[in-house]
Amino acid sequence: MTLWPRTLLWRSVLLIAGLLVVAHLAWLQIFRASEIEPRALQAAQQIVSVVNLTRAALVTADPGRRYALLDELAQREGIQVYAGDPDEAVPALPDQPFLRIMAAQLRERLGEQTRVTLEREGIAGVWVSFRIDTDEYWVSLPRGRIERNEPLRWIGWGALVLALAVIGAFLVVARINRPLRELTRAAEILGRGATPTRVTENGPAEIRTLARAFNQMAADIQRQDDERALLLAGVSHDLRTPLSRIRLALEMLDDHGNADLKAGVAQDIGDIDTAIGQFLDFARPVDAEKISGQSDLNALARTVIERYTRNGRDIVMHAGDTASQALRTQAFQRLLANLIDNALHHGSGTVEVATTREGSVNIVEVLDRGPGIPATDAARMLQPFTRLNSARSTSGTGLGLAIVDRIARLHGGQVQLLPREGGGLRARVELPLA
Ligand SMILES: Nc1ncnc2c1ncn2[C@@H]1O[C@H](COP(=O)(O)OP(=O)(O)O)[C@@H](O)[C@H]1O
Ligand SMILES: [Mg+2]
Repeated sequence: MTLWPRTLLWRSVLLIAGLLVVAHLAWLQIFRASEIEPRALQAAQQIVSVVNLTRAALVTADPGRRYALLDELAQREGIQVYAGDPDEAVPALPDQPFLRIMAAQLRERLGEQTRVTLEREGIAGVWVSFRIDTDEYWVSLPRGRIERNEPLRWIGWGALVLALAVIGAFLVVARINRPLRELTRAAEILGRGATPTRVTENGPAEIRTLARAFNQMAADIQRQDDERALLLAGVSHDLRTPLSRIRLALEMLDDHGNADLKAGVAQDIGDIDTAIGQFLDFARPVDAEKISGQSDLNALARTVIERYTRNGRDIVMHAGDTASQALRTQAFQRLLANLIDNALHHGSGTVEVATTREGSVNIVEVLDRGPGIPATDAARMLQPFTRLNSARSTSGTGLGLAIVDRIARLHGGQVQLLPREGGGLRARVELPLA
């Protein structure tokens, strides 16, 4: 598992917050470095005053009053004064810039023999020595009085800055992201083949441009769809109307002994009409038809089959136990008719239509006793304009199975062209209920 978030929103928030924290830390470091020297000089100044006052008090005080004086200093100011020994060894100062600067300043102001340490006789504090004649004395101040080191406060401020940085970054990025989210949603709708509502064209220039380009694209696609529908309606009308006039005229013509010729022309007219129908079906927008409630698969299949049996075709129905399903009824009937057409056209023997249900999938099968389709060609036959060589001499466009496949996929299903036991084709359509 990686901690790096996947969304643009959180990646940007993290990046910005990280940047702010680094900047904050760097600034803190610079501030502390530049602040050390004035702070050390100030502390030295304070100590010098204390030492000078203490020394003056000791020197001028009445010897009998000295102890009382030292006591008072210790009680009131936290300043302790001890007599020391010039030969006594004390721990050296730690090597820190602040202490180094402070000690140098003390020696400069109080004299070269001044000693500074942070611990004497096991007691911590800031210890500074001074002399009265040849006697050495030590003044001890609580360390807190010269060094205001408050790391906890800095951590608190740092946490506050971090929190503000994350909140600020979130607000900024969420604002930039909002139109992106809207765009993503619209693109998904477009990808499904539906028409999204226009996305709002505001926000930063790049996103505005993107939104405008997207709206333009969606509008173009919509217009192309409209134009295609218009074209189809035109083709349908302009080709089919004269075609039916020809058919009508042909029927009224005397055949003058050329009955075969007349029948052939009638057949050709029928083929052309069928082909136009296939082109129209194929070019029709996939989701032009809306789902009309729950349908009974068996009832729909019977309606289709009846159209064939009325014309003397031999089709047997094996109605199994199917569940009612949300379907585009016209599309489903077109699917079934295409499979039956193929079985009648390319196959032979009685055509059988079988329905059943396997779990949450309704299944429709069309079976015949023809040559079938080799397994290696089955997938290819679902592509538009593909036909087996054996079918080339017969009429057809090669669009039938492509239409079947598209309708099945529109309903979340799929088509399989399987060899039938005992010979023939078993065209199987699976339609999931969900
Ligand atoms: N029931 C079937 N039996 C044998 N071959 C078939 C069957 N159905 C389809 N085919 C083969 O698949 C090809 C593609 O079918 P289809 O897309 O409906 O186009 P068309 O029927 O216009 O030729 C057909 O040309 C035929 O070669
Ligand atoms: Mg066909």
